[in-house]
Amino acid sequence: MAILVTGGAGYIGSHTCVELLNAGYEVVVYDNLSNSSEKSLERVEQITGKKVTFYKGDILDRERLNEVFEKENIDSCIHFAGLKAVGESVEKPWEYYNNNISGTLTLTDVMRKHNCKNIIFSSSATVYGDPAIIPITEECPKGQCTNPYGWTKSMLEQILTDMQKADPEWNVILLRYFNPIGAHPSGLMGENPNGIPNNLMPYITQVAVGKLKELGVFGNDYDTPDGTGVRDYIHVVDLAVGHVKALKKIEEKAGLCIYNLGTGQGYSVLDIVKNFEEANDIKIPYVIKPRRAGDIATCYSDATKAKKELGWEAKYGIKEMCRDSWNWQKNNPNGYED
Ligand code: NAD
Ligand code: UFG
Repeated sequence: MAILVTGGAGYIGSHTCVELLNAGYEVVVYDNLSNSSEKSLERVEQITGKKVTFYKGDILDRERLNEVFEKENIDSCIHFAGLKAVGESVEKPWEYYNNNISGTLTLTDVMRKHNCKNIIFSSSATVYGDPAIIPITEECPKGQCTNPYGWTKSMLEQILTDMQKADPEWNVILLRYFNPIGAHPSGLMGENPNGIPNNLMPYITQVAVGKLKELGVFGNDYDTPDGTGVRDYIHVVDLAVGHVKALKKIEEKAGLCIYNLGTGQGYSVLDIVKNFEEANDIKIPYVIKPRRAGDIATCYSDATKAKKELGWEAKYGIKEMCRDSWNWQKNNPNGYED
């Protein structure tokens, strides 16, 4: 039995492939490489010494998906494939709704036609909007998203929930990620953003490597201890392990489950700068800039449900996240292009 990993060549997907292979699963990756490189999968094989079966294809391409399900004995799907740039989603809402929503509808239709009704879906803390409760439990009501990307996650959660309700043969696990950073400790795999990074950690590592001059800190007048935004950063390897644990839950015929994957710790932008500087002995110049539209002050998880029900908790701390992010960037200044 194999696990289909859509978007498996991407940042979180490739790290998850490593953990799946290490746990003894057979892995089939399906990715259109729109935001990734096939080289990440070579690195997965290098790290694990195991083989990944790769199909280049789009989740909107029903025929190609059918072909994969006919050839492979797929038991469950971990569904990472999707577009994820918040700003771009505001410029191109149709493209985001089409790719993420129509793509997931096509994927799940092909799945059910092949009697594969186990799915783990990459959701996000963004579905909580400006959260009503801090730390955020899974019971916290979903909120107003500030961009089309966030709405695709919120809507897809609803779609998958309704499908499971109508057909209880489905096992649906919605994983709400907090802020994944870090890279594989080997330095062979990591985040590889196109163009100027939108997210904090890749921006910092590109300042550290000399590609960017200084970090802009988006606002220091939030209602937080130092005025800068607070987030729950989680090491990507911990996040990847969370998916292996979620698969075990699927094997127990879990029905519908929702889990936050975070550490439960909040760090401000300036905490991250300071930890990065200390972990790597590099100075990160920064300037305070106006707030970024759509940002919230504070977002961190209550991660106790995943611990209780999945037996999962994050093992890496902020120092390791900073160390591994830098280790990847300095060894691969141009990502997988070197
Ligand atoms: P990523 O861009 O590195 O990986 C996504 C992968 O999906 C890429 O390899 C891309 O080529 C592929 N893809 C996109 N559209 C596709 C399509 N139509 N058909 C086939 N493949 C397609 O992103 P990531 O950071 O690894 O994120 C993985 C998932 O987790 C995404 O769904 C993302 O929205 C979600 N997520 C990410 C974060 C984060 O901060 N990185 C936070 C919360 C949720
Ligand atoms: N920030 C800066 N300067 C930068 C980039 C970010 O100060 O150059 C700040 C932001 O204002 C925020 C914090 O750093 O306070 C984190 O910002 P990110 O862009 O790294 O992450 P977000 O919390 O905004 O969002 C990310 C993903 C979303 C996902 C969410 C889940 O981009 O897709 O985490 O919590 F939904």
